[in-house]
Amino acid sequence: MRYATLDGGKRVRPALVYASGEALGVDQQQLDPLAAAIEIIHAYSLIHDDLPAMDDDDLRRGRPTTHRAFDEATAILAGDALQALAFEVLGSHGSALPEVRLKLVTALARACGSMGMAGGQVLDLDAVGKTLQLEQLETMHRLKTGALIELCLAGPAIVAGAPGPVEHSLREYGACVGLAFQVHDDILDVVGKKETMGKQSLADQKLDKPTFPSIIGLDASIQRAGALRDQAVAALDCCPGDPSALIYLADYVVSRDR
Ligand code: IPE
Ligand code: IPE
Ligand code: MG
Ligand code: MG
Ligand code: MG
Repeated sequence: MRYATLDGGKRVRPALVYASGEALGVDQQQLDPLAAAIEIIHAYSLIHDDLPAMDDDDLRRGRPTTHRAFDEATAILAGDALQALAFEVLGSHGSALPEVRLKLVTALARACGSMGMAGGQVLDLDAVGKTLQLEQLETMHRLKTGALIELCLAGPAIVAGAPGPVEHSLREYGACVGLAFQVHDDILDVVGKKETMGKQSLADQKLDKPTFPSIIGLDASIQRAGALRDQAVAALDCCPGDPSALIYLADYVVSRDR
């Protein structure tokens, strides 16, 4: 569990949680359980994503994937246990009121369950060898990657008890950045360097997975990611606090080299 969680990740999701806190004017410490829980769910999702039954990858964050470093059974169980740990952390740490915790736990369950990350992973595996319509590809990306990223924005709004329009605009930012994140991940699979990314390049092509570059081409994919970045930033108009970190992260998501 430590091997897959503590080293090497970019920590984009916790950064988004804390940046949303700044945009809302919320005390950063109040967001620790949410930031940790989301990152732990993300780490679990990567362990399972790399398994032979899924993407069958041997390199993650510059090191052997968890099932390579240990074995498949250990990797499956480490993922299961991380998932449980995320809910324990969110349910039992911090000073949020019980009703706020309940909302957060429910939102996390939705974001990583059949209508979120896990459901998106099913669509991803089902799409191997198929040509998807752009709409279907977007739905898959919004679920497998976007749902958890959207929670990085919606979660702090729940903690802050933000008014509806503020929560709505943060969710809009999260949905756009969440989709842009996976579009850029697809782009990196084509143009990224293994040494920089710490994972194999051309892995999607090897598995015959439909991706943004494979469906609409590289240039249109870069344009789409840029347009999503703009849409995300435009949604931040009605934030009561400082949105500059969120703007920085929207830029980072579509320009990163890893
Ligand atoms: C990789 O996520 C998996 C996707 C959802 C595309 P990240 O690119 O955030 O991976 P780490 O945490 O930095 O390793
Ligand atoms: C992973 O998507 C999405 C989740 C783990 C939920 P990818 O399969 O594209 O991620 P990488 O490229 O292996 O990091
Ligand atoms: Mg995958
Ligand atoms: Mg993968
Ligand atoms: Mg990928």
